[in-house]
Amino acid sequence: MPRREEPTVPRTLIEPFRVKSVEPIRMTTREERARLLDEARLNPFRLRADDVMVDFLTDSGTGAMSSAQWAAMMVGDESYAGARSYFHLEAVVRELTGYPHLVPTHQGRAAERILFSVACKKGDLVPSNCHFDTTRANLEYQGVEAVDLVVAEGLRPAEVHPFKGNIDLGRVEALLQRDGARVPFGMITVTNNTGGGQPVSLENLRAYSNLLHRHGKPLVIDACRFAENAMFVKMREPAHATRPVRDICREMFSLGDGCTMSAKKDGMVNIGGFIALRRDDWLEAVRNLLILTEGFPTYGGLAGRDLEAMAVGLEEVTDEAYLRYRLRTAEYLGEKLEAAGVGFVKPTGGHAVYLDARTVLPHLPVERYPAWALCDALYLEGGVRGVEIGSVMFGKRLEDGTETFHSMELVRLAFPRRTYTQAHFDYVAEVIAEVKARSASVRGVRIVKQPRFLRHFTCECAWA
Ligand code: F0G
Repeated sequence: MPRREEPTVPRTLIEPFRVKSVEPIRMTTREERARLLDEARLNPFRLRADDVMVDFLTDSGTGAMSSAQWAAMMVGDESYAGARSYFHLEAVVRELTGYPHLVPTHQGRAAERILFSVACKKGDLVPSNCHFDTTRANLEYQGVEAVDLVVAEGLRPAEVHPFKGNIDLGRVEALLQRDGARVPFGMITVTNNTGGGQPVSLENLRAYSNLLHRHGKPLVIDACRFAENAMFVKMREPAHATRPVRDICREMFSLGDGCTMSAKKDGMVNIGGFIALRRDDWLEAVRNLLILTEGFPTYGGLAGRDLEAMAVGLEEVTDEAYLRYRLRTAEYLGEKLEAAGVGFVKPTGGHAVYLDARTVLPHLPVERYPAWALCDALYLEGGVRGVEIGSVMFGKRLEDGTETFHSMELVRLAFPRRTYTQAHFDYVAEVIAEVKARSASVRGVRIVKQPRFLRHFTCECAWA
């Protein structure tokens, strides 16, 4: 018998929440946006958020909290040591991950810095599917090489594969055989943000964990989007189709020895993160460093109310109605883009859609930064802000004035959680289709001023 709640005729999947508190969006005109973009030197990072109508810059810390989270904030215990809110969060993290030791931090990169300072030394190698940029930077800061070993499908934007975030086990094995002594632990990012928000299968995670453990190496999970990953497992890995997502999450964590977490993603909060560990060999050094730079071990740079909100968020995020809606949102935008003939990384990821700028602005050579130009065009056309993942972010101007370019020209549209409705997504799809329809008139850009590192955040551009 078909289950009552699953109608045979597909219906619109509604947002599984009602709106209780609203934040107005300031409507702008095209003329106004042209002036504002000029003032921002054609760099969307330099815009004021109030001048953006739909902000898809990031899904990090930009979501809406639930009424239960706001209520929990009122009972936050602000004691310096031994706060009740810490023990609440600890209980939730233990139940979810099975890891006994919790170390709260103000966000994900603080967790990374502290763990890597303790567990790595200069000359080490740390493999992952893809390291996120702060993870890579924090490893490199310690003199450690961050090695990306995602499967080949993960690097081919147009290729559809259910688990493009999987790690290439053959290459991990070769690395361990060749350079095992230099590997303090392995990492894996779920979902793989750098590779398009693509999931890792439970089968791949288990095989990776077994491989590392056979070589005596722990596995550390970069768990920012663990719940989105688990929902993909439920939907795409047949063996797990009927399991509760919370169960799948627990199994994912059971394969690791610890995790770093930015709770600004699947923790459903505006600020917060943590390290959680199964073993206690790194724990004392981690806590000592935490006291030095973040705060006492029971608050780690956060307010008691932040710990409460995170504890509730980590319960809410595994609600399957929410996760189904969350993944469907990206898929829905993907369908509209397909109809408009706009290329994107396939299949759509958990938290974002990555537009392939070359399919929208084929007339722009890479020297005119097509993905950056597309970001500017989306803002001009409709006040939509995305982020360039192309040659401004990953290319470089060398000492002799020549440029290097990135292999892809993508624009990431990342979706804040529970924040925008279907109408906002319809609107964004219309804006993208209009830019495509008028693409011949979209101009490229050149960089007129740039710092030596991380130039995309502050560079100044002009129309080419
Ligand atoms: N790991 C992953 C996979 C991330 O996506 C991020 C942040 C971090 C670690 C760092 O966490 O920001 O709390 O310090 N990603 C954000 C983004 C910034 O826009 O994708 P954080």
